Amino acid sequence: MALSESSWGFPLTAHKSIPNANPHDRQGFAHFMLKEIYEQPEVVRRCLAAYLKPDWASVQDSTAPSSLFNLPLPEQIFTTVAEIQIVACGTSRHAGLVAQYWLEQLVGIPTRVRSASEFVSAPFPLIANTLTIAVTQSGETADTLAAVAVAKKRSQSEASSQSWLIGITNQSESSLAKAVDYTLPTLAGAEIGVAATKTFLSQLVVLFCLALEFALRRRALSVQQVMPLIDALRSLPDQIEILLKQQHEAIQTTSLTFAEVSGCIVLGRGINHAIALEGALKLKETTYIHAEGYAGGEFMHGPIALLDVTVPVIVIAPEGTVYDSMLANAQKAKSNGAPLIGITNAATQDDRVVFDYALIVPAIDELLSPFLTVIPLQLLAYSIALQRGLDVDRPRNITKTLVT
Ligand code: AGP
Repeated sequence: MALSESSWGFPLTAHKSIPNANPHDRQGFAHFMLKEIYEQPEVVRRCLAAYLKPDWASVQDSTAPSSLFNLPLPEQIFTTVAEIQIVACGTSRHAGLVAQYWLEQLVGIPTRVRSASEFVSAPFPLIANTLTIAVTQSGETADTLAAVAVAKKRSQSEASSQSWLIGITNQSESSLAKAVDYTLPTLAGAEIGVAATKTFLSQLVVLFCLALEFALRRRALSVQQVMPLIDALRSLPDQIEILLKQQHEAIQTTSLTFAEVSGCIVLGRGINHAIALEGALKLKETTYIHAEGYAGGEFMHGPIALLDVTVPVIVIAPEGTVYDSMLANAQKAKSNGAPLIGITNAATQDDRVVFDYALIVPAIDELLSPFLTVIPLQLLAYSIALQRGLDVDRPRNITKTLVT
């Protein structure tokens, strides 16, 4: 069947990002989810304009702890924090897991992430000088608010040490913003689709800026080491535009293989383990396919038994530290008959040949790869849901703000 571009929900000019779009106007897109995916370049630009100091490029003194970011937080947080705990739910928790990688691997601060609902009944052991970060798009998720209340109460009972509470939210006037000491807004604009897309990317921008500021202030990284990462951050909006323009057709074609599947596996390692979880969540909530995300290594210890020709495997394989092991995962999956989809920026055609479908993302430092690898997963979830005739913006059984 020949499908016109618009029959997939894309307006013909969709590859351009949408500046200052009215969030309640679909602007020619068939669904809010798709429009919000296409807003991501503009959302990243807006966040960077807000969080990056205008004179960041002139700061060159590597001997002094420098501030390159507009983060309205006291100096003491950066110098005194011994441990960070992140509480969040769903997609926001996945942003927290990406941040955990940055904070631990770049800065060296022990960081724990727990589902807000689990934190309420089983909080982390109380450590002196803990920073709690609550991440929530809506700022109204009951479980996250309850976790913040627990964190507050526990810190009050421990008068001998300090603690701080930061909220990262898309709603600056929310209950969360009122409950925390400091709010870092994500500036994504209203997100109407139930599936979180642009708010996830904006959470990542804010969390990455925070991690880099920690790295600078604690001298874990020099200004010279941070500059290329900022350059990479600034290149993201253009790269996302290229990705959307060049890959949407390949993603639509790939989505056709999901017509008759019994499940789907998404694999990632290192910083992209969290993106595997997020991709599986997007697939579950928009397509109702039973999808699970796994760490590539862990997948071999049992879940690999799930594989057969009806279970496509999506392998997130950006170039870098985990590329070879992800390719090994891919080959193993293929030998078990699974249809194989790769999300990769591997340079050579030889590498890509292992995949039945290769979704190509622009080359970027592995540390920033989640900003790009998540986008084909968002679009794939959207395209499969559309193909299945589902209500993409309002999946069954879910509301945007969860009240439990
Ligand atoms: C994401 O696509 C989901 N709709 C859901 O997991 C969501 O992220 C979760 O309910 C948390 O919401 P919040 O960010 O508003 O707290």
